[in-house]
Amino acid sequence: MNSAVKRIGVLTSGGDAPGMNAAIRAVVRTAIAFGIECVGIRRGYAGLIAGDMFPMTAKDVNGLTERGGTILYTARSKEFMTEAGQKRAADNCRYMGIDGLVTIGGDGTFRGAEALSKHGVSVVGIPATIDNDIACTTYTIGYDTACNTAIESIDKLRDTMKSHERCSVIEVMGRNAGHLALYVGIAAGATSVLIPEKEINLEKDIVDKIRKARLRGRTHFTIIVAEGAGSAQSVAEEVKNLTGIDTRVTVLGHVQRGGQPLVRDRVIATRMGYHAVEVLAAGQTNRIVTYHNDKCDDVDIDEGLAMHKGIEEEVYAILDAIMTGA
Ligand code: F6P
Repeated sequence: MNSAVKRIGVLTSGGDAPGMNAAIRAVVRTAIAFGIECVGIRRGYAGLIAGDMFPMTAKDVNGLTERGGTILYTARSKEFMTEAGQKRAADNCRYMGIDGLVTIGGDGTFRGAEALSKHGVSVVGIPATIDNDIACTTYTIGYDTACNTAIESIDKLRDTMKSHERCSVIEVMGRNAGHLALYVGIAAGATSVLIPEKEINLEKDIVDKIRKARLRGRTHFTIIVAEGAGSAQSVAEEVKNLTGIDTRVTVLGHVQRGGQPLVRDRVIATRMGYHAVEVLAAGQTNRIVTYHNDKCDDVDIDEGLAMHKGIEEEVYAILDAIMTGA
C-alpha cells in the first residue's frame, strides 16, 4: 500500500468506553498491514505533551478485543486546553516523527484533535463514548455494552422491587444527553424515563401514571433518570411524598463504563479502527470516523462538531405510548 503517512500515533482520551481496546488493536494491526509504524501514547493528550509514548507491535495488542477499559490509559488534560500545551503536543509529534494521529474518545477528544490539526498534525478521531452523543455518527463505541450493563443491574433491581412492592428510581449516565436512558428505559420496560431533552411535569407525567397503574393492580415501578435530567434522589423523594410508595434510589455510576465489550462494540470498533488508518494513509486530515446504516465513513471535524444530535423522537414516542400500559 502506498501510504501518505509512515508513522502514526494512537491515543485514548476522556471517559473510557468498552471497545476502546478493540479500536486500538485494529489501528495497530491495520497500520502494520499497510506498512505504517504505530506508536501508542499513554494518558491521551497529557501523554502527548509529556512525550509518554512507545512503539506498538502486533503482539502488543493480542487478546484486546475482549478487554474493557483502555490499555493506553486515559485522561482529561488541563494543560492541553491551553495554546502552549497544544503547541507542545504538536511539536512532540514532529519530534517523534509521528505524521498522523488517531484519537479515540468523545467530543472533547475531537476538539483536541481539531486544535492539533490547526498546528499542522494530521488527525482522525474515532467516536467512543457510552453517551452516544456525537452528532455526526449514529453510533459511538461503548454505547451498546453500557446499555446492557445497566439493564443487567436494573433486571436484578426489579426482582427485589417486585418482592417488596416498591418503586425503584435509577440514575444512569449520559452527561447532557438522554440516549442511554431512553434505550435503557425501553429495554427495561420502565414506568417513566426522565431525559434532559424532554421537559416533564412530575405530578402529571409520572405520579398520575403510577396512581392509575396502582388502581389496575400494579405494585412495583421503575423510573429511569438520565444524570443530565436531574437527581434521582429528589425524584424519588417527590414520588414517595406524592404516592406514599416505598421508594429506593440506585445510582449506577461508573459500573456502566466497565466490562467486556459486546459483539456490536468489538466489531464496530474494529471497523472504525481500520477506517481511521485508511483515512490517514490516503493523506486526509481533520476527520472523524462515522457510522451510519451499517457503514463506516468520515466527516470533517469542524463540520462534525457543529452538528447537533437530538434524541430519536419516534423512539421517544413509542416509549411514551408503551409506558402508559399495565
Ligand atoms: O462521557 C462519559 C461519562 O461516563 C458520562 O456519562 C459521565 O457524565 C462522565 O463521563 C463521568 O466522568 P468521570 O469519569 O470523569 O466522572
